[in-house]
Amino acid sequence: MRRAIYPGSFDPVTNGHLDIIERGCKLFDEIIIAVVVNPEKRPLFSLEERREILTEVLAGINSGNCRIQVDQFQGLLVKYAVEQQADAVVRGIRAFSDYEYELQMALMNRRMEPRIETVFMMPAEAYSYVSSRLVKEVFQLGGQITGLVPSLVEERMKQKLRSG
Ligand code: PNS
Repeated sequence: MRRAIYPGSFDPVTNGHLDIIERGCKLFDEIIIAVVVNPEKRPLFSLEERREILTEVLAGINSGNCRIQVDQFQGLLVKYAVEQQADAVVRGIRAFSDYEYELQMALMNRRMEPRIETVFMMPAEAYSYVSSRLVKEVFQLGGQITGLVPSLVEERMKQKLRSG
């Protein structure tokens, strides 16, 4: 039984994240999508909203026999990964620019917890420029985000905009 943690802010989840999860499902029997609790950040969607959206959109992906769970964690990722008896942490790498930061985190995590491997995965090229940050910026400035995020996310973003 191979279990992986896919950690992140998921504010909001993008089609790039879902692509990585589908790919991860080919490698692991179980993936825990772990939303980081970071009291210092002011996210667009609350923790509860992000978990709810993730649960809903994950029901529609192609996960094969892989079991997917949504959870949250606070503090050190590797500590959480050990608690969950995970074998690996999955991170998506879009471009070379992601690599430096991700490598630093992976090596620091390995230093703290050599039992946990980090697995870097590449999303489909179509999502190689998609990030939650850019999606929010483009949307807030009136740009089109259709196809970059699940339609539920787009809908929830429109609701947020309407409610101010
Ligand atoms: O989606 P993000 O914001 O790129 O995810 C970053 C995340 C959550 C993976 C990273 O910030 C993290 O692991 N935070 C937990 C705190 C931690 O373990 N810090 C030490 C990293 S070496």
